[in-house]
Amino acid sequence: YLDNGNQIFKDARKNHYAVGAYNTNNVEWTRAILRGAEETRTPLLIQVSTGAAKYMGGYKFVKDMVEDQMDAMNISVPVILNLDHGDYDSAIECIKLGYSSVMFDGHALPTEENLAKTKEILKLAHERGISVEAEIGKIGENQGAGELASVEDAKAFVAAGVDKLACGIGNIHGVYPEGWKGLNFDRLKEIADAVDVPLVLHGGSGIPEDQIKKAISLGISKVNINTEFQLAFQEATRKYFEEHKDEDKANKGYDPRKLLLPGTEAITDSMKEMINWLGTPSID
Ligand code: G3H
Ligand code: ZN
Repeated sequence: YLDNGNQIFKDARKNHYAVGAYNTNNVEWTRAILRGAEETRTPLLIQVSTGAAKYMGGYKFVKDMVEDQMDAMNISVPVILNLDHGDYDSAIECIKLGYSSVMFDGHALPTEENLAKTKEILKLAHERGISVEAEIGKIGENQGAGELASVEDAKAFVAAGVDKLACGIGNIHGVYPEGWKGLNFDRLKEIADAVDVPLVLHGGSGIPEDQIKKAISLGISKVNINTEFQLAFQEATRKYFEEHKDEDKANKGYDPRKLLLPGTEAITDSMKEMINWLGTPSID
């Protein structure tokens, strides 16, 4: 069954470790991520963006796929299924479908409206035991800087009842640009001192290990990783293609299950390294 993660993330914040939130794109990604969690015996948050869900055929398909794979793979660690950066309609759809967690990303709205919509989502979600993440400030995009979250906003969203809070603290989605200034630890500390909910670090890919660890020590409990796995998958896949470009047809070098295997294994390897950085404890 799917866990809403509330206890897990509360424990993470209290004990200064983080749980990874990994984006899925297809069945290979899903299996690679579930395998990484099971083999390390650590809890897992698997999440899907609206774009990736569309690519796969919709939010229902994703939920069914994750649950079917959990059964097929005998997954025995807690799994949290989260909608990543959902708009209002997507959040409601995923709540109704029974996702165990949703992120409502209203950062582009005026703060009052972000807060009002977040409250509506909270009501629907909490009636069903589903966890909610909100976003304040702005996570950078396309190698550009975002906007720092304010302590005042953090207090207002936590007072409204959000379970987790994603804050703009100098983090950027995708590959970090040359000359990136690093995370703003002063702001992170101010927010962490003001609110006690688990804080979320988006754009986790490409942040140096020491900065990730420092952010966790200050109150980050969930680290989102997407690009890192895409890079790992790409690198291993390209290498395999290059090395096997003359593969004999008699060896079935065209079998997609062979072609996608090295990239899939690279995702699990990359995830295990990340779990080490995050200090996620095994459940046993
Ligand atoms: O919501 C997803 C994450 O923030 C992923 O960011 O692709 O930079 O790892 P990333
Ligand atoms: Zn994000």
